Amino acid sequence: MDSCLNSAIDTPWRRAVISVDQFSRGDIDEIFELADRLATGRTTPLGGKMIANVFYEPSTRTSSSFYSAMTRLGGSAIPINEVNYSSVTKGESLEDTIRTLECYCDLIVLRHFENDATERAMAVSSIPIINAGNGTGEHPTQALLDLYTIKKERGGLDGLTVSMMGDLKFGRTVHSLTKLLRMYDSRMRFVAPAALAMPSEYVWPADAQFTDLDDVIADSDVLYVTRVQTERIPGAEDFDFSYAVTPEHMARARDDMVLMHPLPRVGEIPPELDADPRAAYFRQMKYGLHVRMALLYAMIGNV
Ligand code: NCD
Repeated sequence: MDSCLNSAIDTPWRRAVISVDQFSRGDIDEIFELADRLATGRTTPLGGKMIANVFYEPSTRTSSSFYSAMTRLGGSAIPINEVNYSSVTKGESLEDTIRTLECYCDLIVLRHFENDATERAMAVSSIPIINAGNGTGEHPTQALLDLYTIKKERGGLDGLTVSMMGDLKFGRTVHSLTKLLRMYDSRMRFVAPAALAMPSEYVWPADAQFTDLDDVIADSDVLYVTRVQTERIPGAEDFDFSYAVTPEHMARARDDMVLMHPLPRVGEIPPELDADPRAAYFRQMKYGLHVRMALLYAMIGNV
């Protein structure tokens, strides 16, 4: 278990979003209701508030959706999307960077390549922190938006058969989403090359594990696909991890299956599937904006 998760459950999520372990079903209902309300974009309750996006790893969707969410709610954001242009290149520690930014803003969105980074940031920060991805650990806000997408697309969350295909070992989105889906009695199916299988701490005895999408495609309510996290796999270029969803797979899938991907995709879902109404990955990004608006509002809207 990631060290950063150990203290997570006891931390109120309005103080710091570290892990999905912090959320109850009631919390999730509250966040989703808020997301529904804020999606209309007609209120600016965060006027005068400011966040800092501090990203030690590349990001398109997470950083820009937090930026957009904050701006749409009337606030503003300091975008440190590439820490190489900050004092980090001069050797500044994570702790000092956090201490600096807490002087200027009301909340810090942090993405870092080390699994204990959120916990380290929390230890020195007097303002709320959101974990926007900690190494191979978690990506809790992505998991919340993934769950919201499933709810919107399927109309409910209980008792679904959810198949995950891809790099289940190093991908943090599938770790967080798997834990959230446990609260809704999901049947989990994991499809991965053996070297990228879901780590045992996330696997329950009733889960089924496969190496071939053909084995799960016909009875999946949701198919969640991820890329290989090549940047986290030493010697990745020496392996052939190729896998993809094909039109033939989609022909065998249910008419109401939801096809999801946190993006970026690098060949796992070919563009020719984009027009399929079951392809939800672009809608997923829009839902993500609303969930992040809800989180920001819930965390700094009333203080
Ligand atoms: C994911 C991440 O950073 O973990 N990206 C995202 O936030 N949508 C997935 C990935 O990089 O593969």
